[in-house]
Amino acid sequence: MKLSVIILAAGQGTRMRSSMPKVLHPIGGQSLLEHVIDTARGLGAATISVVYGHGGELVRERVSEQDVLWVEQAQQLGTGHAVAQALPGIADDHTVVVLYGDVPLLSAPTLQRLIDDASHRTLGLLTAHLDDPSGYGRIIRDAQGDVLAIVEHKDASEAQRAIREVNTGILAAPAAQMKKWIAALDNNNAQGEYYLTDVIAMAVGDGVAINTVHPSSISEVLGVNNKAQLADLERAYQRGQADRLMERGVTLRDPARFDVRGEIEVGRDVVIDFNVVCEGRVIIGNEVNIGPNVCLKDVVIGDGVQVLANSVIEEANIGAGSRIGPFARIRPGTVLGEAAHIGNFVEIKKAIIGHGSKVNHLSYVGDATIGRGVNIGAGTITCNYDGANKHQTVIEDDAFIGSDTQLVAPVTVGAGATIGAGSTITKNAPPGELTYSRTPQQTRNGWKRPVKKQPG
Ligand code: UD1
Ligand code: CA
Repeated sequence: MKLSVIILAAGQGTRMRSSMPKVLHPIGGQSLLEHVIDTARGLGAATISVVYGHGGELVRERVSEQDVLWVEQAQQLGTGHAVAQALPGIADDHTVVVLYGDVPLLSAPTLQRLIDDASHRTLGLLTAHLDDPSGYGRIIRDAQGDVLAIVEHKDASEAQRAIREVNTGILAAPAAQMKKWIAALDNNNAQGEYYLTDVIAMAVGDGVAINTVHPSSISEVLGVNNKAQLADLERAYQRGQADRLMERGVTLRDPARFDVRGEIEVGRDVVIDFNVVCEGRVIIGNEVNIGPNVCLKDVVIGDGVQVLANSVIEEANIGAGSRIGPFARIRPGTVLGEAAHIGNFVEIKKAIIGHGSKVNHLSYVGDATIGRGVNIGAGTITCNYDGANKHQTVIEDDAFIGSDTQLVAPVTVGAGATIGAGSTITKNAPPGELTYSRTPQQTRNGWKRPVKKQPG
């Protein structure tokens, strides 16, 4: 059976108190709406329609998904009215699945169960039991337990309000019948809206059975209306990510203080300390240790790497057995060979650093190619920028750069060269030789320190 998904996303979201449309707020670094689109794609939907309204242009701009049908609902006249805007684009023999753009954590297996239950003669409805059902539409069942209707909270009697089974808003139904029912909706109710929920009683009237399905966890059906709910769902999402990693054998020192905003792949025996944030695509090899307060973004980390506390690594490739930090910053375009050491207060940018080379203290290395076995002393700076253009520094294998050296690029230090501490290197340093630039040391014999004058 072919599926067409309609995602309702026209609500204003005033309670977010933000100028950004609600469905663009992120969970795990991705907008609410993109989470829902991803879920719809995972089902193999033939079409995905997004009903947008408030801030629609911005939503369309930011969510650069292809193959999404954008449907404008200029005025928000209710969920039934929203679905009506999208239905004309959907073939009669499809199953229509209605999702909410602000309910981001619905899982594919739950949705699949809902769809499996929808057929020509049945409508699948996702419902949940809540301790506090107030505000939600209530599921009305007859003595046999068959669903008869949904009554919105504002239209419900006291007795109906006592019902704790609620409508999540998510349903699956045959398109042809859906079109017929939606066309027959009116807005004769407490809110003066066209309620999608009125479709249930119409289906029952047509002899269509309502099959209810429940989510495996409540967070699957929770929506975001304010920042507190956004934060709660963020934690639920992150806990899910943490659980998946722990199932694969990762040691998380504290799963409540670990965030993935993107995708992560991990090898065996990986230990991740608290407050680690992974963004984009992070690939971690075997036997890797990530210390506390580390930010990783779009990085590939080889086997046996140690990243010590408070290091930030972005768009870089870290060779096996390397040691980074504490307090290191590795910026985009960096490639570290195996067993490299990048120490504290060192910044590396767009540099290739060879096997076993060390930059251990207080240095800046940018736009550079460093060979194997190079030792870069404390406080070394590649002066890569002349105020207009960036230039390259090349340091060949086994060179030794003395502390507090400035390498004014473009410049090359030859293989096995030694640079004396405190040098400003403006010309190429030949291989195998000692090169330094330094004012000669002087001593004034018998010099006396000034003495403070006595008052009076
Ligand atoms: C709706 C359901 C209610 C259910 C609840 C679950 C109806 C009439 N009621 O209530 O039974 O318990 O969701 O959260 O369906 N939207 C539009 N256009 C509109 C109105 C809404 O796109 O004109 C979108 C919203 O952006 C949102 C979703 O539809 O994503 C639900 O709207 P909302 O106002 O939150 O529905 P409720 O009245 O809370
Ligand atoms: Ca709602």
